[in-house]
Amino acid sequence: MARFYLIFSLAAAAGLASATDIWGYGEHTTGGAAAPKSSIYTVTDFNELRTALDNNGAPHDPKIIYINGLIDGDYLADGSLATEEHYARNGNYTFERYLDSFNATLRAILGNSTDPADAAELALLDAQETFRQAASNEQEAQIVLKIGNNTTIESAKKAKVARIQNSYIALNQTDNVILRNFEVYSPIDLFPEWDPTDGSTGNWNSKYDCIGVVTSTNIWIDHITLSDGDHPDSDEPIVFGHQIQRHDGLIDITEGSDAVTLSFNKFLSHDKTNLIGNNDAGNLGPGDTGRLHVTMYGNHYYNSLQRSPRVRFGEVHVFNNYFEGQSSGDEKIVYFFGMGINSTILSERNAFEINGTESMTTKTNLVVGNYKGYKFKDVKSTVNGTEVDLEAVAKTKYDAAKASEVAAAAAAGRVVAEWATHEYTDVVFTPPYEYRQKKTEDVAKWVLKNAGYGNL
Ligand SMILES: *[C@@H]1O[C@H](CO)[C@@H](O)[C@H](O)[C@H]1NC(C)=O
Ligand SMILES: *[C@@H]1O[C@H](CO)[C@@H](O)[C@H](O)[C@H]1NC(C)=O
Ligand SMILES: *[C@@H]1O[C@H](CO)[C@@H](O)[C@H](O)[C@H]1NC(C)=O
Ligand SMILES: *[C@@H]1O[C@H](CO)[C@@H](O)[C@H](O)[C@H]1NC(C)=O
Ligand SMILES: *[C@@H]1O[C@H](CO)[C@@H](O)[C@H](O)[C@H]1NC(C)=O
Ligand SMILES: *[C@@H]1O[C@H](CO)[C@@H](O)[C@H](O)[C@H]1NC(C)=O
Ligand SMILES: *[C@@H]1O[C@H](CO)[C@@H](O)[C@H](O)[C@H]1NC(C)=O
Ligand SMILES: *[C@@H]1O[C@H](CO)[C@@H](O)[C@H](O)[C@H]1NC(C)=O
Ligand SMILES: *[C@@H]1O[C@H](CO)[C@@H](O)[C@H](O)[C@H]1NC(C)=O
Repeated sequence: MARFYLIFSLAAAAGLASATDIWGYGEHTTGGAAAPKSSIYTVTDFNELRTALDNNGAPHDPKIIYINGLIDGDYLADGSLATEEHYARNGNYTFERYLDSFNATLRAILGNSTDPADAAELALLDAQETFRQAASNEQEAQIVLKIGNNTTIESAKKAKVARIQNSYIALNQTDNVILRNFEVYSPIDLFPEWDPTDGSTGNWNSKYDCIGVVTSTNIWIDHITLSDGDHPDSDEPIVFGHQIQRHDGLIDITEGSDAVTLSFNKFLSHDKTNLIGNNDAGNLGPGDTGRLHVTMYGNHYYNSLQRSPRVRFGEVHVFNNYFEGQSSGDEKIVYFFGMGINSTILSERNAFEINGTESMTTKTNLVVGNYKGYKFKDVKSTVNGTEVDLEAVAKTKYDAAKASEVAAAAAAGRVVAEWATHEYTDVVFTPPYEYRQKKTEDVAKWVLKNAGYGNL
């Protein structure tokens, strides 16, 4: 079965790694391994999980938390489940009024009326954005799980269910965390924001990632199954010409985070899956330059529409992952690998299986997207079992983006943006750690057998 072959001569042979040992930039992560008996917890609900994370007032000391049950972020201290009305209780927010607040016709009618009730209604419309923010802050304060340093969270061995839902798992200025072998449903933003200035026709924006790795180091996320659960984007109505967004990233790694490994996770039916680096200035936290080192292997992406991952600044090593997607229809792939500003991506032996009647060329073109990046190397990846030239796609897309920036700069009489002054290159970093790879032809089977909650 295990037809491994060695890429690096293995000093690691001494430790003889199994398929589930940690490799990559996150390899020094130990989580709560040093926890004393008194800091080992089994939790069955959200409040117990919060209490365990507090670890008797020492939230950064080593601790191991086993999940046995359904952990729901809407679960209030008294055991009831918070609703939209609960979070909005200190204002007069309603979704209908929020939408009305953007209706210029209605505002003009109310504003020209001499009826005091209409004036009061207009005042309520004016206050909707303030009310929305207040309700949104209430929801965030309730559902956020702040993970301290030196933490391991994993499924209890006997758990029938080990799932976190309706919660924002926040690793913010955190060091040394292992999240392993459980299921997560992406939280639902009950108060999404309409931003008329986002893009040319406005857009809906959601506030929460599912797991946010913000300014954090030494993180290992392994064997987690992530999805939108019972609330797929496709259920959302289209309002103002755009589908309402209630989800953001599944695992986003941002604001100068570093030393992260994502292994054997399952990312199911989601739009924006893994963002690495969240702005082109790279100036948040300690800054992104020289950080955002991430390794990803053994992960299964099933109908992940974009950002699988999208990278800025980082050096990201993506090997032996299995990607399943579609080249047409409602869940059409936008792209898998997004080459962002100052990003470097090393892809090795990834297997892409793309359904649809489109040509192999069309399918291969969907694998890489350009967002100002010019450094990309691929070794032996396949699309539908055929070895393809992803570097040619990456180069063509960078060259096209560069040409249009050069033309735009000339037309506007300004200097060309720095990102567009380079030549495409396939010269990237050499991973500074030992790892082993499967042959591409074995990747699908290997990933399907090993990835996700319950496959440890
Ligand atoms: C909400 O509306 C009611 C009646 O319309 C008003 O009495 C109350 O002051 C409002 N609350 C806030 C926080 O604006
Ligand atoms: C805006 O308000 C006017 C007046 O109440 C109404 O006729 C119209 O349908 C509203 N437009 C939308 C998009 O809701
Ligand atoms: C009254 O209606 C006019 C024309 O529809 C509009 O331009 C104006 O802004 C309205 N006044 C107020 C206070 O909304
Ligand atoms: C991270 O924590 C800092 C300090 O508490 C806070 O200001 C910031 O908003 C947090 N960032 C995110 C993305 O939650
Ligand atoms: C937790 O880790 C962060 C990030 O490395 C560090 O800044 C902070 O001081 C640590 N907290 C404690 C209590 O050690
Ligand atoms: C706990 O975290 C701190 C700060 O990140 C780190 O220096 C320390 O080595 C950790 N302790 C253990 C026992 O893992
Ligand atoms: C990207 O890297 C180049 C060096 O290659 C540097 O000059 C530039 O400032 C970086 N861009 C940003 C936005 O940091
Ligand atoms: C592609 O088609 C196969 C065969 O019908 C199906 O099993 C698989 O789930 C499809 N993949 C996606 C991403 O929809
Ligand atoms: C992969 O693509 C080829 C060529 O487009 C197609 O014939 C084949 O059916 C595809 N495989 C799947 C699983 O869709």
